[in-house]
Amino acid sequence: MTADRRWRTAVVTLSDKGYAGERVDKSGPAICEMLEKETYDVVKTVLLPDERKEIEKCLRTLCDDERMDIIFTTGGTGFAERDCTPEATMAVATRNVPGIAEAMRLASLKVTPRAMLSRGVSVIRNRTLIINLPGSPKAVRENLEAVLPALGHGMEILAGRAQECGMPDQKSTGRA
Ligand code: MTE
Repeated sequence: MTADRRWRTAVVTLSDKGYAGERVDKSGPAICEMLEKETYDVVKTVLLPDERKEIEKCLRTLCDDERMDIIFTTGGTGFAERDCTPEATMAVATRNVPGIAEAMRLASLKVTPRAMLSRGVSVIRNRTLIINLPGSPKAVRENLEAVLPALGHGMEILAGRAQECGMPDQKSTGRA
């Protein structure tokens, strides 16, 4: 059994237009709204342009200095020339976690065939899980819904707090 734990969480929006003030970021707030209903404390939100080196630096700082348990990114996962979120995320990864991105695409394909156009990845950097979500608020909700129910267990294992995988599934997400 595991005691309740709240996860230190960062939400990073990658958008040239958002950063330039030409578009209001609705996706970052959509993530926060969903996470607030669970055991995730969003302690930091960041808005950056689609600049690979800046994104990498931000992710490293959030993992290494600010000790986030989990980071959700939104945007920059598509085919546009400037989309580089997956590349920046992979550059800071210490381990790959393909199943989370696979599960998001699998669930999303039931909603839209365009789900296959997201190149988002999910990885671990040391003790931090990083998950790329697509850029629209609708896509954010659909993707998060697909993975939240299993994330809490993974987080417990990553934090070194759970060894038992034989426990019955829990409906909710971050709940320990
Ligand atoms: N996934 C879900 N669940 N719902 C969506 O509407 N949109 C897709 C895809 N994933 C979508 C989705 C589209 S149209 C694109 S182009 C890619 O995500 C990449 O989005 P991004 O470039 O905003 O990251």
